[in-house]
Amino acid sequence: MHTASRVCRLADPRLSAVRNVLAVLDGRSLDSALGDTPALADDRDRALAAELSFGICRWYRRLDALVSSLLRKPFKKKDRDLHVLLMLGAYQLLYSRIPPHAALSTTVETSRHLGKPWASKLVNGVLRRLQREHESLGAGIDKVAAVRFAQPDWLYQAIDTAWPGSSEDVLAALQARPPLVLRVDLKRSSRDDYLARLTMAGISARPHATVETALVLDAPVGVHSLPDFDTGLVSVQDAGAQLAGDYLDVSPGQRVLDACAAPGGKTLDILQRAPDLQVTAVDIDAGRLQRVAENLERGGCEAELVSGDAAHPQDTAWGGRRYDRILVDAPCSATGVMRRHPDIRLLRRAGDIDGLMRRQAAILDACWPLLAAGGRLLYVTCSLLKAENAGQVDAFLARHPDAEAVELPARLGSRSGKGVQLLPGIDDTDGFYYAALQARAA
Ligand SMILES: C[S@@+](CC[C@H](N)C(=O)[O-])C[C@H]1O[C@@H](n2cnc3c(N)ncnc32)[C@H](O)[C@@H]1O
Repeated sequence: MHTASRVCRLADPRLSAVRNVLAVLDGRSLDSALGDTPALADDRDRALAAELSFGICRWYRRLDALVSSLLRKPFKKKDRDLHVLLMLGAYQLLYSRIPPHAALSTTVETSRHLGKPWASKLVNGVLRRLQREHESLGAGIDKVAAVRFAQPDWLYQAIDTAWPGSSEDVLAALQARPPLVLRVDLKRSSRDDYLARLTMAGISARPHATVETALVLDAPVGVHSLPDFDTGLVSVQDAGAQLAGDYLDVSPGQRVLDACAAPGGKTLDILQRAPDLQVTAVDIDAGRLQRVAENLERGGCEAELVSGDAAHPQDTAWGGRRYDRILVDAPCSATGVMRRHPDIRLLRRAGDIDGLMRRQAAILDACWPLLAAGGRLLYVTCSLLKAENAGQVDAFLARHPDAEAVELPARLGSRSGKGVQLLPGIDDTDGFYYAALQARAA
């Protein structure tokens, strides 16, 4: 009895990981699948389930190719869980510090938890062969660069074409586990003072080389172990995302529209940068807007929260005002944040991009007339695709002869079209695009 329950505890995070990956294959985001993993007994099991789920998604294409090369024939659709289970075993053997014997035995055990004990011999055999032959098998499948970097062909090609000089670095960075990065509210603490508090708490971190609000942790920790996290003194925010606050360049008392606000990382950032701002935070997703409320509450800040469509401000109270600053942090392919959201490569389709570009253009066109005289609209994406970035801004400027781009300092990243592109991993950031727009002088 005792042994059985111990095996079960070991196996459960693996079972959850298989279920999470199957949910992603069915089109669900990994975050939402992980949100349904509470049945696990303790934090360590939950962390392991998350690590395995993220890892399989991150390396999905390469693991899939390795496992497929070892199967005499593919599984039937109803046994797709066994294919994912083998990928889980392969992930543990090739990419984790889990001792190989534990990786093998727990994966075999999980076939029983899936209700398929008949497959345990097959699972054991395939994984043992992988253990013996992974170098030669890997050399074969890695000849295809998209497999080596575990990207779908279309995305591999899009990144390779867009960033020919740096594509290998970008693609390699997308395979790495990203660091946890904090933004310090400099109105309440200097970055050095907060770093000292972290050190006292036994958490090691370093200042980001360029972004003066950012601290990069050496190893991830639970947010509630961060001193004063609960009062909003620090927030978890990639260093590249922290540039939005800089580029928006708010002054005290200004009226600000955050047109695509949820979950509110940038809303809180903006509110912490200057006093007496009147911020309206709009998001089309009422559920996600709740997270903006939670973020602001944590930081003790207030904004008007509106569930609405930024592409249709007509006949709304917020659409009847003019704003000194407008942030359009647009829905996009999210290809720049695949380090943090490795499921993107499984969820996104080449055919999604046109629809996303239409939404971005509609939001930009609808928000532009809401800009007050002398105001600034900041367009942001976390995309690596030029069509969503420089191409989108060029198309906007062609449609709006009354608009012009403001030259942003390329403190990080490099100039791309009328804006600045940050590439993942290169300056210790995720991938973002920034372009600032203003009205032409009459
Ligand atoms: C990149 S996220 C914004 C991230 C957020 N600014 C932050 O820093 O935490 C894009 C957001 O746009 C929202 N969205 C998508 N289409 C929208 C629309 N037509 N109007 C308003 N919000 C929209 C999505 O629900 C999503 O929350």
